[in-house]
Amino acid sequence: MADLSRPPVWRYLQEAGFGNAALQLARCWIRDPDTLPFATHIEPHALIRLVQDGLCFDQLQADACHTEPRYRFGRDHGRPFSARNGNLLTLDKGIPAHQLAAEANGALPDPPPKKTLKRKKGKTTNGVELRPEPEVNGDAMDIEHNGTTHVTNSVRAESETIPSEAESPTVAEIPISTLSIGNNAGFQTEVISIADLAPQTVFIPRHLDPGKVVEHTSWGPIDAPVLLAAGRSLLQVHVVSRQTTPEQTPTIRTGDMLLPVNNFDVTALCWHSDDELTVSVREQCFNEVGEKMMMDKLIKLTEGGQVSHIISSTAGLINTLRWNPDRNLLLSISTDGEKGSIKVWKNESDSIPAWTDFTDTAIFDAHWITDSAFVVCGIKLFKVYEVGESLTTQRTLDTSVTWETVKYDPTSGIIAVLGIEDQKGYLGILHPNDSISLQTHELPDDYPTDLDFRIRTSTNTLTNGSSVPSVLLVTCSMLGTVRAWDVNEPFKCVKLLTTSENTQALKIAFSPDGSLLAAAGPDAVTIWDIERRDVPVASWHAREWPSDKWNPSTEGEFSLGWDPDSSRLSIALGNQIAIIPVPRYLGCACDVPSHSYQYTFQPNPNWSSLYAPAPEIQSYLQDVAEKYSATRFIKLRHEIQACHWNDKTAKWHITVKNLATGETLQDQADVLISGRGNLNTPSWPEIDGIETFKGAKMHSATWDQSYDFENKRIGVIGSGSSSIQIVPSLQRLPGTQVSTFVRSKTWISPPFGQQLWDKYGFQTSAIPRELRDRFANDPDYYHKFRLSVEEDGNGIHAVTMKGTELQKGAKDMFHEHMREKLKSKPEIFEALLPSFSPGCRRLTPGPGYLEALTQPNVSFITSPIARMSESAIHTVDGRTHEIDALVCATGFKSSAPPPFPLTGSNGLPLTRKWENRAVTYLSHSVAGFPNLFTMLGPNAAIGSGSLTTMIETVGDYIIKAIRKIQKENIASMVVKEERERDFIEYVDAYFEGTVFADECRSWYKNKGTGEVVGLWPGSTLHCVETMRSPRWEDFEYIYVDELEGTDESRLKGVGKNTNRLAWLGNGWTVKQQEEKDLAWYLYPEFVNKPVAPLPEENEEFKIRPFSY
Ligand SMILES: Cc1cc2nc3c(=O)[nH]c(=O)nc-3n(C[C@H](O)[C@H](O)[C@H](O)COP(=O)(O)OP(=O)(O)OC[C@H]3O[C@@H](n4cnc5c(N)ncnc54)[C@H](O)[C@@H]3O)c2cc1C
Ligand SMILES: NC(=O)c1ccc[n+]([C@@H]2O[C@H](COP(=O)([O-])OP(=O)(O)OC[C@H]3O[C@@H](n4cnc5c(N)ncnc54)[C@H](OP(=O)(O)O)[C@@H]3O)[C@@H](O)[C@H]2O)c1
Repeated sequence: MADLSRPPVWRYLQEAGFGNAALQLARCWIRDPDTLPFATHIEPHALIRLVQDGLCFDQLQADACHTEPRYRFGRDHGRPFSARNGNLLTLDKGIPAHQLAAEANGALPDPPPKKTLKRKKGKTTNGVELRPEPEVNGDAMDIEHNGTTHVTNSVRAESETIPSEAESPTVAEIPISTLSIGNNAGFQTEVISIADLAPQTVFIPRHLDPGKVVEHTSWGPIDAPVLLAAGRSLLQVHVVSRQTTPEQTPTIRTGDMLLPVNNFDVTALCWHSDDELTVSVREQCFNEVGEKMMMDKLIKLTEGGQVSHIISSTAGLINTLRWNPDRNLLLSISTDGEKGSIKVWKNESDSIPAWTDFTDTAIFDAHWITDSAFVVCGIKLFKVYEVGESLTTQRTLDTSVTWETVKYDPTSGIIAVLGIEDQKGYLGILHPNDSISLQTHELPDDYPTDLDFRIRTSTNTLTNGSSVPSVLLVTCSMLGTVRAWDVNEPFKCVKLLTTSENTQALKIAFSPDGSLLAAAGPDAVTIWDIERRDVPVASWHAREWPSDKWNPSTEGEFSLGWDPDSSRLSIALGNQIAIIPVPRYLGCACDVPSHSYQYTFQPNPNWSSLYAPAPEIQSYLQDVAEKYSATRFIKLRHEIQACHWNDKTAKWHITVKNLATGETLQDQADVLISGRGNLNTPSWPEIDGIETFKGAKMHSATWDQSYDFENKRIGVIGSGSSSIQIVPSLQRLPGTQVSTFVRSKTWISPPFGQQLWDKYGFQTSAIPRELRDRFANDPDYYHKFRLSVEEDGNGIHAVTMKGTELQKGAKDMFHEHMREKLKSKPEIFEALLPSFSPGCRRLTPGPGYLEALTQPNVSFITSPIARMSESAIHTVDGRTHEIDALVCATGFKSSAPPPFPLTGSNGLPLTRKWENRAVTYLSHSVAGFPNLFTMLGPNAAIGSGSLTTMIETVGDYIIKAIRKIQKENIASMVVKEERERDFIEYVDAYFEGTVFADECRSWYKNKGTGEVVGLWPGSTLHCVETMRSPRWEDFEYIYVDELEGTDESRLKGVGKNTNRLAWLGNGWTVKQQEEKDLAWYLYPEFVNKPVAPLPEENEEFKIRPFSY
């Protein structure tokens, strides 16, 4: 044993190019000295005699166990050092080795979810496995940029022999039951809908040279938002353009940074500024007698990597580099596995460091904590150094834990470390108020992997009214558990979160602006906005991509990093690098309770808020589409460009553009249903000179996700629902100055459903966890809640009728609400308060809008806009409002023909038909346009009540019509002109008595001020009842046999001129012919039992009598 436990073994391993393996094995050893299968009796730090040309792990095991080697290196290296066992060396997952060993033997009941590890097959020659070329490893490395640490994971040990696929247990062979995690009751287990970030992923093309391997990635500072990829024989920058629209394909430019070394491995790097960085490399070279040597060099790169300069050629194997921007000092940490070496470099032209010190144990991480002090941590090590005239030890704290990662919060001065001792995870906190004791807390989660502080900047407002503590530290674990800690009150866990689908979290990082938190592993990335809610706001799943794009089983480093402006995330695994745009929706949400804004048949108990944010609604809809296989029929990114009805063939001829390929297709359909949304075609304001404006310009519906509004002067035009949501969001951003141009007066209501909410006793619109749990576990309770929400919405229909008590009450309430919220700015209250009845314009509850208007960074401008110039809006009162960005929250072209040609019978364009006013029959059919149905077209929306129920019932109506068309061999059905006129006459009569007839500008009205064309003439319940039973006599029909040249075989006897009841067929039913369900009418679900003694007393009929 003695021979094996000597430091030379460690050195040999390092010098053979397996530095990281050595380091990782050392860590592994320390955690579980007794359980490494090949090292039962070897002391800590003694490492393997892994020799590229002969000895292998098996030999070592044989030595350790006093047995004969079982396998010959190079041709027989099966199970004992299989992928699974090899994985024991891989501590980048933070799993105690003994547990992995036990897991591999199927003994562990509840291990963490494991990334699928399946090694590539070695080349086979005559059935003999060739020994794969040993690969040089990178070292465990931390990358620093501008004082912010981006941690890349320590690499896997590659130095063990690689088994053949046939020999190694694949994941399929590993007892699967041991791979699943039990549902910890304390965990958040709901599967709430969250935004899917996968579709926008940009993959950086992989390096084809297998000798070049990415081991670390790091984003450059804010002035150079490039992504650096470094590793084996590789140092590259990738510049990825931002997408301004989802259709845009981003450009990727890749450039090599040239280093004055060959055959190297970048072991650490840190940015100094936007065009300077230092890297440490291990170079493999040969001396004059041909012996292989390892040279560790420290190299500074300047001018964006164009110029390089070797600082030192004897730097030692560096695993951490930290830059001190205040004093231009570079800290490097190297280790020989046993001892740590600290060097502080003062000057790039000095080949020897200005200060040096050594520690008795290995150092794993370090961080500058002031301009002259830094902390190091490692094996039973936590030490603070001071750089003065000399390098002195400021504090050595007694600890028995192996600390692997250190983070520092500059605003509070708190240092946090994550470590392992006796297979348990620990969190250590050093508070400036008590700088001599490292408070240590055993982490409740198995396999902790990473930690991060939320960064606070001087301008962000994260702490204003926040529900989470100002100093926030998060930890993550292999089990997908994320905990937020209040480090001022160690160790108070303030939030317990779980990753999407409990995927493993190897890395965790707050966005540089502190607003979002990302935790990631090879299978998924989960993003939270923890100020707002505990459920994730977005996720990215590897399974959305084929393995040639992203294969989560790939061997190699995993790293995670935010780009400096917090708009993109990068993840890397081996040579795979993905850039994931992270959109910021600015406050878009529904404003009716989410429990009403959902399908009747698909209740979601997990809405995170009473007014769910847009990404949650989108995910819900996507889930429903997938659940019911609607996706079979959906072609995404296909734009309809023209639709023409052909009277002769009774077909719609449709031109479709595939936006992905640019290809244009021609298609035909019997029936055309337009569900293109009434609030979809942006309406831009017609302002003189708007085209000369040079700043950023966007419509609320075509939001530029990539635009950084921080510290900008922003003009927002409009005071509709969109503006009401956008203004408070922009006002809250750091450094913004918002000028809001308000043309019309408007009512701002308290949130809809507030009474109901009061009834349930909630303080905010966030839905408490207990309630969501109850909704999920108690369907009856949730059903009752849904009923209350719907009844609440449908119960206030009278509010839309002029002169009703409800209307008067609402007016008083809104008046008081606005007065109260605007009491500090009575002039705004006066300017905004309308004389028309509430509801005439679309009512919007504006949480935070009125409050935002009173803030010093918001100007409320009522003077009409006269013109625009390159950098300003000029108002009629002669004032100039300088702006950097213009947001047009100016609404949509609603109740209008589509922005593409659509012609009906006799080539009649819909634009001509609707020239003066959009008219329909019951909102869904248009005279002159056969086999066309519109959903949420003109006169289809609602002022109060559930819109989604109306959409569902119109859908049912259309299905009934299609069934009729199919069954009766109808070529076309078109509503009669007279019936359309009847409907419009009814519409106008109905609205006379409503608040909508008041004098106000609104998209509900024809051309803003005319007849009501946006709304259904009645209540939601009225619409549902109307759609229930179609009046088929209101339509004209042409049968297939009336068309010229109809093929008789198509008719099957059914047609106008044959027998319209020929669908009666042969007198048999289909089921009868199949000899199935021959007495179905006795099945209980089909028996309609009359109520005795008075059938007319049937409750069901009382609730819903037949109207037709
Ligand atoms: C910001 C915002 C918030 C809203 N909040 C609420 C709310 O809280 N409560 C409420 O009841 N209503 C709300 N609405 C109204 C909302 O529009 C409807 O509730 C709902 O989205 C309408 O559904 P839809 O399917 O008819 O239209 P949309 O959801 O608009 O969907 C139309 C689809 O058609 C596609 N499309 C359009 N033209 C073409 C073409 N030429 N070719 C191919 N595809 C095309 C669009 O891309 C889109 O996917 C809100 C609207 C907006 C804009
Ligand atoms: N649920 C939600 O939270 C939510 C959010 C957003 C939108 N929506 C839905 O979408 C609908 C549309 O809302 P929206 O806010 O996008 O549009 P909108 O209600 O039509 O409001 C457009 C605003 O822009 C103003 N405007 C238009 N042209 C202008 C010009 N040239 N100069 C100055 N001002 C001009 C309008 O002023 P005038 O009033 O004077 O014409 C109005 O204030 C809503 O009614 C609602 O149904 C819902």
